[in-house]
Amino acid sequence: MTYNDENAKLPKSSKSLWMNFNDMEGFPTLDEHTEVDVVIVGGGITGITSAYLLVNEGFKVAIVEADKLFSGTTGHTTAKITAQHSLIYDKFIHSMDIGMNKAKLYYEKNKDALAFIKETVEENKIDCDYCEQDSYIYATTEEYRRKLEKEALAYEKIGIEGGLVDNIPFNITIKNGLVMKNQAQFHPVKYLTHLVQVIIEKGGLIFENTTAVNIKTGDKPSVLTREGTSITGNYILSCSHFPFYEGAGLYSTRLHAERSYIIAVKAKDAYPGGMYISADQPIRSLRSATIAGEEMILIGGEGHKTGEGKSTLAHFNALEKFGNDVFDIESIAYRWSAQDLYTLDNIPYIGAVTLSQPNIMIATGYRKWGMTNGTVAALLFKDILLKKIRVDEHMFGPSRFHLNPSLKNFLVDNANVAGHLIKGKLEILSKDASDLSTGEGAVITVDGHRKGAYKDDTGKLHIIDTTCTHIGCEVEWNDGERSWDCPCHGSRFSYTGEVIEGPAEKPLQKYDYKMIDNLTSEDSGY
Ligand code: FES
Repeated sequence: MTYNDENAKLPKSSKSLWMNFNDMEGFPTLDEHTEVDVVIVGGGITGITSAYLLVNEGFKVAIVEADKLFSGTTGHTTAKITAQHSLIYDKFIHSMDIGMNKAKLYYEKNKDALAFIKETVEENKIDCDYCEQDSYIYATTEEYRRKLEKEALAYEKIGIEGGLVDNIPFNITIKNGLVMKNQAQFHPVKYLTHLVQVIIEKGGLIFENTTAVNIKTGDKPSVLTREGTSITGNYILSCSHFPFYEGAGLYSTRLHAERSYIIAVKAKDAYPGGMYISADQPIRSLRSATIAGEEMILIGGEGHKTGEGKSTLAHFNALEKFGNDVFDIESIAYRWSAQDLYTLDNIPYIGAVTLSQPNIMIATGYRKWGMTNGTVAALLFKDILLKKIRVDEHMFGPSRFHLNPSLKNFLVDNANVAGHLIKGKLEILSKDASDLSTGEGAVITVDGHRKGAYKDDTGKLHIIDTTCTHIGCEVEWNDGERSWDCPCHGSRFSYTGEVIEGPAEKPLQKYDYKMIDNLTSEDSGY
């Protein structure tokens, strides 16, 4: 079975399995100036959990979401609720910047997040397919066998329940595995839908299709929206994946984006239970989900820096091949991709955007572990607003920045960005628009200038400037999702140039396709 248009079993959209079960009614756009105690930007697990915790403490909150609730990374996750975040604890313990105490604290905070989700589900009887599962990392090479042994020692030192295993219940030859006991999985959209209902019942406000673009700072800061309205609060919590407002925090130089892919398949054999991820490349992630009484296996992996991957279809096909090698796949029900942000030291940034602006806080950089890290952020925000802890007086504070090893990574990431800033501008391309078939997109040369072109199914050409409107890197064509993706900080644009995902706020410059020999700029809205 391969992915092509003849395969009727495949959805045409890249809607995730979770988003297909989203029956939440829409919310209005913010259309007048509003004032609340706390403005929360972003309708994913961090924003919704924060709002839930804060309305329960008597705060007046508003969530402002650029698209629809859950439509970002939260709706496209594997939804594993675990403190087993690949191989991190041994690295944390041996990092000069992190060390034993913080490694332990990182684990405990994520364990607390798991416990919070469990208690919330049980107390509220939330029907969200929550179930406990053991979580496994497995190694298929000698190099990673040794790394898992070191990670197992780190588990012992930290006091993590688990240990090495020789086998996992699949047709995969492994060198060893490492289990973390009593983790969990759930349906994130069902879980968060319940929290949203509580937020509304307790007077919280929710605005969708309202894009936060800037902040007017002060004692009572205001979020300014692209739609021309504003909303003021004593605090602003930026839970929007990439921070929509960076202040002087230089987050563009401290975060990078990666994309990964998931397919949900029906298999002939029953899934044996557990959640799994490979330690070595290519990364493969496994869990099951029962949807409308039917068991599906979620196969994830193929991560790469945004804008630097091969064909998206090739990523899906690689996952399918793995699935066929391990399971007897009957059909593929869903496929989708996700985008995650990485910090310099692999610990999220949660706290004041800069120390001089403590009433504006951010939460970002969860890598692929947003269900627990997003909940960690929400629990921290609650404690900060209740003045139980001071902003940034904890290990997740974004103001941490030490020379070793972060500086090295900082320079590497910046060198990467600088490379993308100039690479495309120097590139000599031979393709032109007449080379494109219908349904094909590519970077082309027009009169010696680099442009992006996509020929739609009717033969119409859509031509854009490939300069990202964030800070000017060159976007690349993503043929699976028909989008222009930026390798620097992960902005994504539709083939017509509209923003799909920030940090870019403005569309790509568009050009008139009729004037292909003499391109003229169209009004692109900015
Ligand atoms: Fe930052 Fe494109 S330059 S996302």
